[in-house]
Amino acid sequence: MSKEWTTKKLIGAGEIARRVRELGAEINTHYGGEEVTVVMLLNGALYFTADLTRELTGKVKVEGLKVSSYHGGTNSTGKVDIDERSDLDLAGRHVLVVDDILDTGQTLATVTRALGQHSPRSLQTCVLLDKAVPRAEEFEADFVGFTIANQFVVGYGLDYQGYERNLPSIEVLEFVSPT
Ligand code: XMP
Repeated sequence: MSKEWTTKKLIGAGEIARRVRELGAEINTHYGGEEVTVVMLLNGALYFTADLTRELTGKVKVEGLKVSSYHGGTNSTGKVDIDERSDLDLAGRHVLVVDDILDTGQTLATVTRALGQHSPRSLQTCVLLDKAVPRAEEFEADFVGFTIANQFVVGYGLDYQGYERNLPSIEVLEFVSPT
């Protein structure tokens, strides 16, 4: 079946790789060799976390948390579902939550509130992309890869209805109008 959309490159794979290495170095400096538990938000942060965690030099645990906020379209529903696992062991640990993109702020605000209940030693957040939009919930990430304009992007883990996650670069989604 043909696609009803096209994509236009915004950030190339080489640029992403360079920035991920820099972010890894910033994070290593921040934790100074202490153990970190990385909680990746699935599915979007899968590719970013895979690359970022391979830049981390200290002792690292990687956990996944299934979160959905977009429910298929290109607009936020404002509702954030967290499939909170009862076996997450975060008490007394340095926790770094990794997500693909910070948009309305609702996802990270909700997740950090929930994970804060586990009494971590510290709780920080890292996003690959930060959309320059007014937040529905005030939230700023501690580590940011790139700031982008308000456009719907796919690739490097970001999807449109489950498609385009496997693009190696970040691309802007454009709908093709039927002729
Ligand atoms: P909020 O609005 O809660 O959004 O900060 C975070 C989650 O929404 C999804 N999101 C996007 N997904 N392209 C995507 O593929 C986008 O441009 C985009 N903007 C937000 C994403 O799941 C993110 O974790």
